[in-house]
Amino acid sequence: MSSYFNTQPDKTLSILDLFAMKQAGEKISCLTAYDASFSQLIDQVGIDVMLVGDSLGMVIQGKKTTVPVSIDEMVYHTQCVVSARRRAFVIADMPFLSYTSADIALSNAARLMQLAGAQMVKMEGVHTEIIKSLVDFGVPVCAHLGLLPQSINQLGAYKVQGKSLHDAEKIAEDAKSIEKAGASLLVLECVPANLATDITNSLKIPVIGIGAGVDCDGQVLVLYDMLGISVGKRPRFCKNFMQTATDIYSAIEGFHLAVKQLKFPASEHSF
Ligand code: KIV
Repeated sequence: MSSYFNTQPDKTLSILDLFAMKQAGEKISCLTAYDASFSQLIDQVGIDVMLVGDSLGMVIQGKKTTVPVSIDEMVYHTQCVVSARRRAFVIADMPFLSYTSADIALSNAARLMQLAGAQMVKMEGVHTEIIKSLVDFGVPVCAHLGLLPQSINQLGAYKVQGKSLHDAEKIAEDAKSIEKAGASLLVLECVPANLATDITNSLKIPVIGIGAGVDCDGQVLVLYDMLGISVGKRPRFCKNFMQTATDIYSAIEGFHLAVKQLKFPASEHSF
């Protein structure tokens, strides 16, 4: 098993490193990042993956949801993060309605990868034909299942998904479909821990959980939530790592180690 810390700061991780970590049983640590200063700090700690999430709409822009975030804003923040990154693998979110057809998805993914330097793009839902098109053209895709924040106006509330047998089976089937379509990674948000365990064990691609229990191949949190600086109530699945840290670097290090050592999420952060 490799060191938990940043022993090769000049080597940028690739998708192969993330697959190797799944195979070796080493948990993948992931935090959202939106600017160069935090990107540098997160990278120095040795966090494996930085996600330029459209959560920036809420934590940076003060919007109520991720729905208003534009592709221009995603390109801008991805450029900021990539400019200071040395080792971490960088994923950029495709924002709401930026992947309504294969052509639209391709031109927006081109901006995130060519202009901004993302290594992979993430999209919410089961868009297998669009995933196939992107993958055909060499764009690695991270799918996002479970709670889909971009669908908040359809859902009505942010709540745990896959609680009934029917809903759990649907999410498990969707996970198989996105893998078959060529997705290389899956973010699984707010689902019962036992469902996330089954999905993680049934897929070859790494599964990164948020509110999905400790058995996923990795864990992601919104940076501002884990630093305790988000406005409003902290979701149950999140932990404020600043509470036991002396500075921001140590809080991020606390998260990284807790993920690697299977100490986060604990049962009180899971469903
Ligand atoms: O936008 C984001 O930060 C995300 C995470 C919650 C996974 O998609």
